[in-house]
Amino acid sequence: MGGRTLTAVSLFVCLSSLFSHTVGEIKSERIVADSRSMIVFEKFGFTQRGHVNIIVSNVSFSSALGRADPKLFGFFLLSDESFIQAVYESQQHNHSPNPNPQANSDDNKCVLFSSFVQLLFNFDELPQNSPSFLNKTFPITQPDEYSLIFASCVPETTVSMYVRTEMYNGLPDGPRDYLSAGQSSLPSIYTFFATAYIVFVGIWIYICLFKNRPSTHHIHLLMGGLLLVKALFLICAAEDQHYIKVTGTPHGWDVVFYIFQFLKGILLFTVIVLIGTGWSFLKPFLQEREKKVLMFVIPLQVIANIASVVIGETGPFNQEWITWNQVFLLVDIICCCAIMFPIVWSIRTLRETSKTDGKAARNLAKLTLFRQFYIVVVGYLYFTRIVVFALKTIASYKYRWVSVAAEEVVTLMFYAFMFYMFRPTERNEYFAIDDEEEEAAEAALQREDFEL
Ligand SMILES: *[C@@H]1O[C@H](CO)[C@@H](O)[C@H](O)[C@H]1NC(C)=O
Ligand SMILES: *[C@@H]1O[C@H](CO)[C@@H](O)[C@H](O)[C@H]1NC(C)=O
Repeated sequence: MGGRTLTAVSLFVCLSSLFSHTVGEIKSERIVADSRSMIVFEKFGFTQRGHVNIIVSNVSFSSALGRADPKLFGFFLLSDESFIQAVYESQQHNHSPNPNPQANSDDNKCVLFSSFVQLLFNFDELPQNSPSFLNKTFPITQPDEYSLIFASCVPETTVSMYVRTEMYNGLPDGPRDYLSAGQSSLPSIYTFFATAYIVFVGIWIYICLFKNRPSTHHIHLLMGGLLLVKALFLICAAEDQHYIKVTGTPHGWDVVFYIFQFLKGILLFTVIVLIGTGWSFLKPFLQEREKKVLMFVIPLQVIANIASVVIGETGPFNQEWITWNQVFLLVDIICCCAIMFPIVWSIRTLRETSKTDGKAARNLAKLTLFRQFYIVVVGYLYFTRIVVFALKTIASYKYRWVSVAAEEVVTLMFYAFMFYMFRPTERNEYFAIDDEEEEAAEAALQREDFEL
């Protein structure tokens, strides 16, 4: 039971740090007739004053091979470092003959008795009365990031139980912090960026409604909507994290959080697609294939958001959790690729018309604008999907907030750039033309091939 299961669990342990939207809140889970030999519950970064509280109740286990020894079921904590050692150790056990024939061979192979794990309790500590109930709190002796794992070392057994887990770090002045070490500054980070976007919305309203009202198009209103939704999303994220930090549960803010996350995702992709097609400031209508991109991306965003809710609200203990993570990744990648098509089509169209319609300067300006937009969108998607992922993986658990802050900084820069490039402007100022410039532009168009 050692090596292979540990290797399988490794995937869960690694992924759990990458995806979960919140960790460390109080969670109650119902395990029904589960035959997995390991169930990963939560991953949490503990400080010196860290504690784990576990309440298990209504425990029952049945084995196909007669009565199972309760000592072979239990909960333990495992840090990432010990994890590698434990995998190594269990492989040694599997490949070498038992060095101590007197010892119970089950005990020897059972991960609960490995010297690398921190055993919390086995089921032989469960009181005999029924329904069973056990409430235990364990202080953390060594600050680190640990996964809480349940293991069953008896093959072909099923376990049913209620588990309520509570992980927190004590604060010097008494109260508890239910956010993992390295994430406890998230409420402040979200509040800061929410304020930045509220200022941004104000500036955008001023530009659209007062400064450049005549050249404001529908797309600019939609962009304003996107900014507003992004600001509201950050406010919800701040509240959600604040309540989790203080009380361990989000007090319903998670629902609003998911609603705004959904609206934000749809609006962002729609705005990028519409700007990419040049809708409303270059042409008043959408072509059939451009509509198809939107009709394709919006349902995918619905799926991505369902996946994100499942990922955030359950955890690795859920057997389909990995699948949902894969669904989310796949759908996200498809959406990111799909929204590039309209920009590429626009660039192609502009290049073709520039050869025929004799307005070289104007076309060159548009072409440059779209090419810059293409590069900025690619850069933004690359950073928020790949660099942020890498930062999360590399950074120590104490600095997990860095990846969140980096993502928000880059997103704000992207919004600022996109909104600046496509702000309402008077056309003449945009594409000022005199003969000299016209000739220069013609030459430039011929010289430069905007290859993608
Ligand atoms: C455990 O079982 C008892 C009866 O068997 C039931 O009354 C109780 O609600 C159960 N506990 C939980 C947490 O559901
Ligand atoms: C579990 O025990 C702690 C004290 O160790 C206590 O504060 C808490 O109320 C108990 N929980 C339940 C559900 O009995």
